[in-house]
Amino acid sequence: MSRVAVFPGSFDPMTMAHLDVARRAAALFDRLVVGVLHNPKKSPVFDIEERVALIRASVADFGANVEVEAFDGLTVVFAERNGASFIVRGLRAVSDFEAELQMAHTNRKLQRGVDTVFLMSALEFGYLSSTLAKEVAQFGGDVSGMVPPPVAAALVARFSG
Ligand code: PNS
Repeated sequence: MSRVAVFPGSFDPMTMAHLDVARRAAALFDRLVVGVLHNPKKSPVFDIEERVALIRASVADFGANVEVEAFDGLTVVFAERNGASFIVRGLRAVSDFEAELQMAHTNRKLQRGVDTVFLMSALEFGYLSSTLAKEVAQFGGDVSGMVPPPVAAALVARFSG
């Protein structure tokens, strides 16, 4: 039986913390589908196609068991559509825990067959967030080391001039 997981998120944009979780999850599961949430109510810096393309470029050397897809609606429906029994999420600090616990319980209430698996973010990336990376880039700071190289280039392009 093959073990399939989805790794959902906004990924606006993907950070090194996300990339680290995706790399480790790819080693744990037979197939990992990174799901990029298309939320029409939010105005992301990168549109859905850009976010998907940036993640694809960032995970290019991970191997064939990692896919990247956009989705909208419920994460459990996205999981079901992909034959996934697991949702992967990263935990950076205790401050993430409450919201993640709430989401995990909600998802389990919606779909008992889907379990959430948490990976602790690598210590060196525990401080990172997409929001901070965007803010640093916006004010001309160096984001290399915070985000994968394709994302760093896209942030510089987006905020230069
Ligand atoms: O990267 P984020 O913004 O922390 O990711 C949050 C995400 C996309 C995982 C969460 O908002 C989500 O699952 N949204 C889809 C809607 C849904 O399934 N809601 C009910 C369960 S929380």
